[in-house]
Amino acid sequence: MQEIEACVHIDAMDVIAPIDPRLYSSFIEHMGRAVYTGIYEPAHPTADEQGFRQDVMALIKPLALPLIRYPGGNFLSGYRWEDGIGDKAARPARPDLAWSAIEPNQVGTDEFMDYCRKLGAMPMMGVNLGTGTPQDAVNLLEYCNGELPTHYAELRRRNGHPAPYKIKTWCLGNEMDGPWQICGMDAEEYGRIACKTARMMKWLDPSIELVACGSSFRDMPSFGAWERTVLSHCYTDIDYLSLHQYYQNKDGDIPSFLARNMEMDGFINEVAAICREIKRQKNTDHDVYLSFDEWNVWYHYQQEGKDAPKWIVGRAIEEERYNVADALLVGGMLQTLMRNADTVKIACLAQLVNALAAIMTEPNGRAWAQTIYYPFLLASRYGRGVSLRCDVAVPTYSCAVADQTPYLDAAPVLSSDGTLSLFLLNRSVDTPLHCTVALDGFTPARVLEHVGLYAHALTDCNTADASPVVPRTLSGALLHEDTVAATLPAASWSVLRLGAAR
Ligand code: AHR
Repeated sequence: MQEIEACVHIDAMDVIAPIDPRLYSSFIEHMGRAVYTGIYEPAHPTADEQGFRQDVMALIKPLALPLIRYPGGNFLSGYRWEDGIGDKAARPARPDLAWSAIEPNQVGTDEFMDYCRKLGAMPMMGVNLGTGTPQDAVNLLEYCNGELPTHYAELRRRNGHPAPYKIKTWCLGNEMDGPWQICGMDAEEYGRIACKTARMMKWLDPSIELVACGSSFRDMPSFGAWERTVLSHCYTDIDYLSLHQYYQNKDGDIPSFLARNMEMDGFINEVAAICREIKRQKNTDHDVYLSFDEWNVWYHYQQEGKDAPKWIVGRAIEEERYNVADALLVGGMLQTLMRNADTVKIACLAQLVNALAAIMTEPNGRAWAQTIYYPFLLASRYGRGVSLRCDVAVPTYSCAVADQTPYLDAAPVLSSDGTLSLFLLNRSVDTPLHCTVALDGFTPARVLEHVGLYAHALTDCNTADASPVVPRTLSGALLHEDTVAATLPAASWSVLRLGAAR
């Protein structure tokens, strides 16, 4: 079969930026079955002493998540954090207006902090700026980080947590521009409340860093204007601006779908440019970086017209069954995050368990990894170090995203142990791609591994019964002096790992 020819040139000195490990973070929202019958199910045979499912934890641990965002999402904007602390039997159940469910409050701040500790992850905690006030936000901060003999810090101690949690990263609300958001608001109103809340929180604990809401997604009509207005109010009070984006493949146009991560590159560039613009206007040295704290593929559940009974605990909503095509784009999106490591410091795959999730569970039953789990696993494992620029010469095709879409998307990462990992997406659905990689400033000694997702039907999924979609080793990568040649199967995502000569 004829192959597409691609030449990649990498100069190990041509560094974009160190990759912040928090690029490989995720998100647990009180949404659907993410918490109840997802991470938490006291009656499950694998539940630990706190009711956390250990079968789920065993799937999460290899992802080595640096950070987990919590408790929402849309849920956050109606959440009363004080409902979720103290004696579990005394905690109130509440209607959750975001997801039309009952929130029993059996998992709250302290349980989440224990969960993070068990996973070795840091929390990224949200404060409710929908129904909540700046004072509620400061109270939660005092509960979590307070060291003084004051009311909420004492409450935490009485609840069995003498040491402050020292939570560093906090989100100032969620998607406040969305008409679907509980008490959503316009940019002026949000900018003002974000500024007031940020100042109060940093007065109490100057060690924290804050994420303000950007637009809910790129195609929001207020995109751009929202960012400018919000930043004009709070630029010097915050540290990150959030981006959210989910891509869809409703029409089955795979060549366009696999190019969507190019839109993600464009979105990041636009928001980064707005941050630079406001920085200039404010005439400040302060930098605001980007937190891409919700990203994924999301369309199956809605397209299938599914719904679940309302007003119960743990509604089975948005249980996307991800296929191979979805996993390929997730791999491409990870490459976009790597090559924007100079501006994007935090990114959360949304989400982790059951709702839009990498990991699925049956209530009282099995747990398994979806297709998208694997590119995330490999990127988290091998995509740490410094992100390098690379030049790619490859034929292009025309699709809904761009007239000239490169068949190959490549992102190299040089790790501190001297390994060069080259992440590769072949967007051609029917043609293998022969890739010649020329290296400067890095003398490859051996091909350590070439592994990825390939040779599956694009519609293949994993289920509780069978997991056919797992990474497979690719053979045939050849080293010749400072050049490596490898063939990328049609519609594949892979990582080629090279060891350096000592
Ligand atoms: O991740 C699911 C939902 O998507 C989140 O609750 C919300 O922030 C976004 O719209």
